Amino acid sequence: MKILITGAGGFVGQYLARELLKDPENKLILTDITVFSTPPSSIHPENAICIQADLVKEPQAVLIEKMDAVYVLHGIMSSGAEANLDLGLKVNVDATRHLLDCIRKKGWHTRFIYGSSIAVYGRPFPQKITEDVYPTPEGSYGSEKVICETLINDYTRRGYIDGFAIRLPGVIIRTGAPTQAASSFLSGIIREPLAGKKCVVPTKDRSKTFWVCSINDIVLNLVYILGLPSDVLPLHRRVLNAPGMVVTIQEMRDTLAKVAGQEMLDYIEEVEDTTFADLVQSWPCNFDVSLASGVGLSVRETFGQAVEEYVRSL
Ligand SMILES: NC(=O)c1ccc[n+]([C@@H]2O[C@H](COP(=O)([O-])OP(=O)(O)OC[C@H]3O[C@@H](n4cnc5c(N)ncnc54)[C@H](O)[C@@H]3O)[C@@H](O)[C@H]2O)c1
Repeated sequence: MKILITGAGGFVGQYLARELLKDPENKLILTDITVFSTPPSSIHPENAICIQADLVKEPQAVLIEKMDAVYVLHGIMSSGAEANLDLGLKVNVDATRHLLDCIRKKGWHTRFIYGSSIAVYGRPFPQKITEDVYPTPEGSYGSEKVICETLINDYTRRGYIDGFAIRLPGVIIRTGAPTQAASSFLSGIIREPLAGKKCVVPTKDRSKTFWVCSINDIVLNLVYILGLPSDVLPLHRRVLNAPGMVVTIQEMRDTLAKVAGQEMLDYIEEVEDTTFADLVQSWPCNFDVSLASGVGLSVRETFGQAVEEYVRSL
């Protein structure tokens, strides 16, 4: 298959590219605005072309030949989109719309797999959150995701693309440096102590729950969507809440201590951050993912297994 991945230099994009490059039949075009390369230890790196491009300015530069599938994973994340509305709209909305329109005009009817987010939801949360719950985002990032989801529904209904929008939970364990995102500590609480660095957790409430999924699970689910028959969802409702798991800070601490030793906990500093306490109320975690499970998406790893896998990868 010929597959384009946008945001291929980012966290999910690199893992996804590595997974897709296991199949010698796949030919990938990887693109990002930053300097990046094919993921290290890819099995068939010769089957990937890397194109550095700003999708806001030149979306057509990456659609150089007919694509069977496009993964849209580029973006400005939550704190960045909140800090700079214009930038968030350009990258998260305009660039995605440009891609949709390039594909529409070429008449490719490409499978279009879009990385959306649970940030589309806002309070008050019902007892169980399904795709039927009306999205009321509490930030510009979530609003921009809803706009793109709506376009994907409409372009699929009109037959221009074969779209799926997947609402990702917080993906753990993010590699690299901590991000500016308020949720950064969800990965940092494991990653930083293992690197001998301090991680500040912005709450002392260890019973607080979070909706997360492992990077391996989200990548396998994204690959699975490549082969899904289009008619598993109605043409005008293409959104799925990705399966995930609920974890507490206490469980994250216990897992870290069990996998890497009690002394790792010394690197975790818990502080009471009142801004965070308010923000965290807007993060949903009571999901009912029966729609996604019904089409075959799944969770394979527990939080403990995700941490063990991360430690192995080091
Ligand atoms: N990681 C998570 O926990 C999570 C959770 C929910 C949703 N998502 C969504 O999944 C997708 C992938 O997330 P991620 O964690 O890999 O993000 P990331 O920030 O690691 O990667 C995004 C990439 O987009 C690139 N980019 C930014 N502006 C661009 C532009 N103008 N042109 C081309 N590329 C540009 C960045 O350089 C970056 O490499 C995103 O759309 C994100 O909103 C991620």
